[in-house]
Amino acid sequence: MVLDWVLMFSQYDRSNNIRFYKNRTVTNFMNNIILVGFMGTGKSVVGKELAKKLNRDFVELDDMIETREKMPIKDIFEKKGEPYFRLAEKEVVKKASSRKNIVISAGGGAIVDEENFRELKNSGIIICLKASPETILKRTKGLKTRPLLNVQDPKKQIEELLKKRKPYYDKADFSIETDNLRVEQVVEEILKSFT
Ligand code: S3P
Repeated sequence: MVLDWVLMFSQYDRSNNIRFYKNRTVTNFMNNIILVGFMGTGKSVVGKELAKKLNRDFVELDDMIETREKMPIKDIFEKKGEPYFRLAEKEVVKKASSRKNIVISAGGGAIVDEENFRELKNSGIIICLKASPETILKRTKGLKTRPLLNVQDPKKQIEELLKKRKPYYDKADFSIETDNLRVEQVVEEILKSFT
């Protein structure tokens, strides 16, 4: 059943450092909720928690790629290269976007591709989780699972990639600064905006 759902987002909420667009109309109750944003902004943990609260399935695009390719992301980058990874990512974006009423966590680079952005946008509401380079560095430090940050100067890499990706992340329906929020608080803020 298709229902029209009008979400009245509050204006800029300075106390929580959260920005919502005002009076945004989101149609279709079965819309997916898609979390985008840079590595280390909390998409996976927030997505899982949000899905649990909403009683929806949670889909992690990176997991879909790993299942499809039968190897970890880091090995895909090493053995097959980033362009191959991006093609696999495109395939799973299509697959996940064809589902309804789920929560999707998209890898940090997924929406840089225009077609991926369109597919995801057509399937629901896009929420961007944000964090400062310092926070991202702290959250991702020591983890070898993210090939793009496995470089000599990860801080510089984070800053450069964030700058390059800003215009794409800014296309999200709304965004949340997660630096000073716990997972439950981010989830609460997302849920608050829907009710
Ligand atoms: C990437 C982010 C990663 C993963 C891959 C590339 C990116 O996902 O898709 O390593 O380009 O930012 P997370 O954002 O979930 O870490």
